[in-house]
Amino acid sequence: MANDQIEAWLQENRSFAPSADFAQKSNVTEAEYGRAHSDPEAWWLEQSARLTWTVAPTRSLDWNPPFAKWFSDGMLNASYNCVDRHVDNGFGGKTAIHWIADAENEERVISYSELQQMVARCANALLALGVRAGDRVAVYMPMIPEAVVAMLAIVRLGAMHSVVFAGFSAEALASRIQDSDCRFVVTADGQFRRGTAALLKPAVDEALLNCPSVESVLVVKRTSQEVVWNETRDHWWHELVDSQNSTHQYESFPAEQDMFLMYTSGTTGKPKGILHTTAGYLVGAATTYSNVFDIKPATDICWTAADIGWITGHTYIVYGPLLNGVSQVMYEGLPDSGGRDRWWRIVENLGVTILYTAPTTIRTLMKWGTSHLIGHNLSSLRVLGTVGEPINPEAWMWYREFIGGNNCPIVDTWWQTETGSIMISPLPGVTSTKPGAAMRALPGITIDVVDEQGHSVPNGHGGFLVVTRPWPSMTRGIWGDPDRFAETYWSRFPGTYFAGDGAKRDDDGDIWLLGRVDDVMNVSGHRLSTTEIEHAIVGFHLVAEAAVVGASDETTGQAVVAFVTLKLSDDDQSQDHAAIIEQIRQHVSRVISPIAKPRQIILTPELPKTRSGKIMRRLLRDVAEQRALGDVTTLTDPTVVSMISGLMEQHSTED
Ligand code: WTA
Repeated sequence: MANDQIEAWLQENRSFAPSADFAQKSNVTEAEYGRAHSDPEAWWLEQSARLTWTVAPTRSLDWNPPFAKWFSDGMLNASYNCVDRHVDNGFGGKTAIHWIADAENEERVISYSELQQMVARCANALLALGVRAGDRVAVYMPMIPEAVVAMLAIVRLGAMHSVVFAGFSAEALASRIQDSDCRFVVTADGQFRRGTAALLKPAVDEALLNCPSVESVLVVKRTSQEVVWNETRDHWWHELVDSQNSTHQYESFPAEQDMFLMYTSGTTGKPKGILHTTAGYLVGAATTYSNVFDIKPATDICWTAADIGWITGHTYIVYGPLLNGVSQVMYEGLPDSGGRDRWWRIVENLGVTILYTAPTTIRTLMKWGTSHLIGHNLSSLRVLGTVGEPINPEAWMWYREFIGGNNCPIVDTWWQTETGSIMISPLPGVTSTKPGAAMRALPGITIDVVDEQGHSVPNGHGGFLVVTRPWPSMTRGIWGDPDRFAETYWSRFPGTYFAGDGAKRDDDGDIWLLGRVDDVMNVSGHRLSTTEIEHAIVGFHLVAEAAVVGASDETTGQAVVAFVTLKLSDDDQSQDHAAIIEQIRQHVSRVISPIAKPRQIILTPELPKTRSGKIMRRLLRDVAEQRALGDVTTLTDPTVVSMISGLMEQHSTED
């Protein structure tokens, strides 16, 4: 698809109408928007019937701004809803998870009955270790079925999981465990990445040196590498879990029982523990999964190609699919583990119907070229989704044309860790789609795009994205910090939820997401805080000062670019700058994660600051993206700018 053609389409606001075939069979119709809109609380109460309750709720929303409760007089068990009830309903033999390993020819097919037994055994093991309702359990796991089992077993006991992406460092893991005083950790000895085994447990061992709250660690043997063992603290999964009774009588918990924490980056240096509670979150997950992907549980084979360490994995690998009783693919590896056509072999062999992934991955697949698609039959696909960052029209069109055969609706889904489930997206068979637009708030969700004063912008204008009414899966707060919750999300435009994203309403009133308006970066769909990376860099012994910006990047959306001033004594002056830069990159990787490692570090004698001493990030972004510099009149020392520009030029030629 040529760029000028896409440009032309954007000019004429090109849209794709739903096909008649889809429209006929779609789970919902246009009328759903109106029904939900006329009485959102009644509509959501109706959706709550998607769950099986021990005590059905009669209440919908209790709103004490900014604190919401949903379905608060209901009682239920999350794990029963995801697993046992499907067995009770006669679907025990149905595949719940078709797990594909990083390596070729290694897979596991797990039925709902088997999953039920695995979860029961794990719940019994956790009980034996002392896990009780309300406890926090950290999960630091590769993409293996035991990760899902652990999450379901934890919530089955009314405890909370705090899943930490296995790519995070020991230090990042420790700070998350400390913030919520986790009593337990579930992990694995190691994980496979493109055929290579990498250790995981040593990071846990290192983290726990500073986490006195942790009593026990449950360890899955995945790679069989040598690991250090603490006899009193560590327990092998295959010894403790596998020997447990395969039934577990679940208990019911109140709708608002705390369910999980997911740490995410904010504008300050410290990650925040986003809290979700049980019923509202589950209703959001079940409803949006069914509507946005038009799920037909009897026939669909669903694949959310994400990691359980992020919210997308929570809502659309674990809870949404299992609540809907679908068969799904869970994949351990990278897109090119075993070859660049690995994904398409999986789609073809398993007959995947629903594929959900991030724009970064689509751009990578696109870069690898269509030759890897040749000979693979992808005609089973019927809905394609994207999430995590704005999708550029070129990638959208490539996805539609080459993966979807011009035959699959593309759902560009906007949401956040905080929103719990999808908020803005077209509905297949119902809503028209446009390359690069998330289009429209889902039924039951009310959003607006507002100006600085909080007034709705007219069509054709941009502004800040806000959510104007509470919704069931909204976060209930930041762990241990209710004030930060109110301040971060509810104070900018009082009474409405401020998402931190910019958005535009086009001439038809459809929504386009424009990226973050705060100091949060989005690198390959991962949320990173500029401040957090700056803190990490400044923690390196040779660094005096650092400023980090997100510069646009063709593949990863944004990339981390750091401007750093060194504190070098006269003796150090002769040090090799390239070596220092590499040391700083490794340092960031160690302190946070390899995903936070700067793409580029630019050493500079000074950082550009305003007269009041604020670092001019906008200017640095211009420099990093090699754009003409904007207004520099407020700078204390304009010569710094030309100095930095000079450095930048030097760097671009080195690249
Ligand atoms: C961005 C991921 C544009 C946005 C589910 C948001 C998107 C942040 C989209 C949340 C999209 C997510 N189009 N931007 N379809 N989806 N974002 O918490 O900036 O990891 O605020 O949740 O990702 O990232 P988080």
